[in-house]
Amino acid sequence: MAASSPLRAFQRRLLAWYAVHQRKLPWRETRDPYKILVSEVMLQQTQVDRVMPKYHEFLRRYPNLEALAKARAAELRRVWYPLGYNVRPMRLRQIARRALRDHAGRIPDSYDGLLAMDGIGRYTAGAVLSFAFEQDAPILDTNVARLLSRYFKVRGAPKSGGTQRRLWRLAKDVIPKGKGYTINQAMMDFGAMVCTARAPRCEGCALRKSCRSFPWHNAVSCARPRRHRAH
Ligand code: ADE
Repeated sequence: MAASSPLRAFQRRLLAWYAVHQRKLPWRETRDPYKILVSEVMLQQTQVDRVMPKYHEFLRRYPNLEALAKARAAELRRVWYPLGYNVRPMRLRQIARRALRDHAGRIPDSYDGLLAMDGIGRYTAGAVLSFAFEQDAPILDTNVARLLSRYFKVRGAPKSGGTQRRLWRLAKDVIPKGKGYTINQAMMDFGAMVCTARAPRCEGCALRKSCRSFPWHNAVSCARPRRHRAH
């Protein structure tokens, strides 16, 4: 058998791991772009465990774009309140109104359409395109960035333009054709459950044989997070 490249090994091992260990999350049981957008905006700054009950409550109250577009600001803020960052629900309502006005009542299925909305950046656009429309669109959040920079040993300051460019490029290159949905969800779970910020679970890690930072504790040349981060 031909030797597998680190990229192919990443795809193969990660997808095999995900098939067994994936988390059951409510926004994975739908492809409704509205519901997926709601979940992604909630998850932008809030942890999965705290988002789950709110996701259900929010969708009971605002089950579709029309209902959200008509929402009263005070009520919307009240429903959202425990998640903090009150600008997010107002932006969501604005997106709902624009979708109704400019996109025939649909969440756009293109980068241009999504990025034109306030509150949707490159990450959220990629999440909606891959999770709702099953396009091979890359995503890069803290979990994915950490996993990719460790596995492929991306050097340089994490926030620098050059590092970000390399990571986005990798996030795109790791997607096997037609598998954007699955590999993106898999990277999220792997970053949250195995390749965690502090104390990653390197012994037993499904990617360790081809990971350029394994074992993480010896990877002195990679910047190690010093403080606790949200993800
Ligand atoms: N954080 C943001 N999007 C997520 C998703 N789809 N699954 C798990 N965590 C997430």
